[in-house]
Amino acid sequence: MPYPSVLQPSIRLLEQTRQARLKQVIPRLSPEGKQDLLRKFHPDFDPRYMREIQVGPNAGLKVPVEIADILEAYSRVDPDTYPVERVDVSCDVLVIGGGGGGATAALVARAEGASVALATKLRLGDSNTIMAEGGIAAATKPTDTPVHHFLDTMGGGRYANSPELVKTLVHDAPLIVKWLKDLGVMFDQEEDGTIVTSFAGGHSRRRVHSCKDFSGMEMMRVLRDEILNKCIPVIEFSPAVELLLDGAGRCAGAILENIETGECLTVRAKAVVLASGGLGRLHIRSFPTTNHYGATADGLAIAYRAGARLLDIDSVQYHPTGIAWPEQMLGHLVTEALRGNGAHLVNAKGERFINELETRDTTSSAIIRECIDRNLGAVTPTGMKGVWLDVPVIDMVCPEGTIQRLFAGIVGRFERYGINVKTEPILVFPTQHYQNGGIRIDGDSRTDIPGLFAAGEVSGGVHGRNRLGGNSLVDIFVFGRRAGMQAASWARENPPEEPTLDHVRRHNKTLEALGVDKERRSPKILPDYTREGIKRVETAVSGLHLLRRECR
Ligand code: FUM
Repeated sequence: MPYPSVLQPSIRLLEQTRQARLKQVIPRLSPEGKQDLLRKFHPDFDPRYMREIQVGPNAGLKVPVEIADILEAYSRVDPDTYPVERVDVSCDVLVIGGGGGGATAALVARAEGASVALATKLRLGDSNTIMAEGGIAAATKPTDTPVHHFLDTMGGGRYANSPELVKTLVHDAPLIVKWLKDLGVMFDQEEDGTIVTSFAGGHSRRRVHSCKDFSGMEMMRVLRDEILNKCIPVIEFSPAVELLLDGAGRCAGAILENIETGECLTVRAKAVVLASGGLGRLHIRSFPTTNHYGATADGLAIAYRAGARLLDIDSVQYHPTGIAWPEQMLGHLVTEALRGNGAHLVNAKGERFINELETRDTTSSAIIRECIDRNLGAVTPTGMKGVWLDVPVIDMVCPEGTIQRLFAGIVGRFERYGINVKTEPILVFPTQHYQNGGIRIDGDSRTDIPGLFAAGEVSGGVHGRNRLGGNSLVDIFVFGRRAGMQAASWARENPPEEPTLDHVRRHNKTLEALGVDKERRSPKILPDYTREGIKRVETAVSGLHLLRRECR
């Protein structure tokens, strides 16, 4: 199924402007220009779909309604009847999350001498890590320094980031690339063995290290083997649905729910690492998402109930290049590395409209402006609008064969639909990609709750209000490693007392006093894609102006 006839005229225009566009230099926006664009077009700046959280440490903050609903929900566990004294599994360190952050924390805690169990909602490796295409950012080249990486990351996050966390991130990043390489990750290399690095939006240096366009998959391949080699017990299909706290408020383990049998398992642990990922599958503002099926903000829900403060949780990242056609792949990621290697963003008239290496918040806002405000999106047969990512220019500015060599995954995915991305563009529109904020941590991954550590997308502060490409993979490994080390050391020195569910009881009481619907439960565990589920969401948001609908 090649591109339908309604899209052909704008493809012809794009082809006609290609040579001229190659000579065009589009300057980066001034800070004022960027701010203006964000204010007008970035979904984070539209208050119509936000509401105040009424409970917990962030009470009073306005967040997207889907997030508020998760935080203001009853537990799946009844604290009055659950046999909290039961012990099904006992270990020094319980790691919650089977992606790159969790695997790293588990390996490091084990290397530090702790007994470790890793619990995960789906299978080991099923996570956003394996969906990561572009690569991992680190200042490993002579032309780069951690200071440059620090400045770029702070600027990208609109200076809302925690400088302490960013310093840790950029400092440890080169060590992490070496660690991964030594474990066996096959990074893209020149013929002489030098690792290839690319640009990504907002990075002033080539510092993204890739493994073709399945970088996260390759890293997870190696980590998964390592977990199995070290015989770390993995409890699959068992998301954490509640944390346990002792009388002094220290984390003392978690309750897991087997998603096949519905049975609960109590894990007693001296320290817990939360690496359960983000919230893409909440579909904020009904956006499609790049995220894996389990990304339903479970970690946020249970940590918040236990008293952890969240940072920048009202800030969501929309990746500029989500697939808009064919609809079977709606919202799936096409990597920013395509733009990093020269691909152009082009509207329906064949015009470039933004420097392709602006940060994601800015680039997505520019695409939304083209589609809604300027009405210059190309319209699909089902009425969706998008702009073109002109991929074939890569082979005109890079050595021939670069598209096939570096982006074999994307070439193959589109081939199935009769689209040849070596000669044809890709229609794109922003897609929900990342939770910019999350649980507050310090430079050693400690949360506000003694004995609870967090790493990766579930945590907040590293990326401020907009993450740069390549900084997510480095985040999970840097803070996963630190979480593993600190959790092992905490477990040695601070064994908790008997666990309780008093915090859940208190949370439920507050919700009752507010009259919150008793049916509202979190964690959600899996998105509700039944007809009823979708209808419920649509009813909840009726009367509100949904951005994606505007684009139809
Ligand atoms: O575009 C990408 O490849 C995404 C990378 C990231 O989110 O870091």
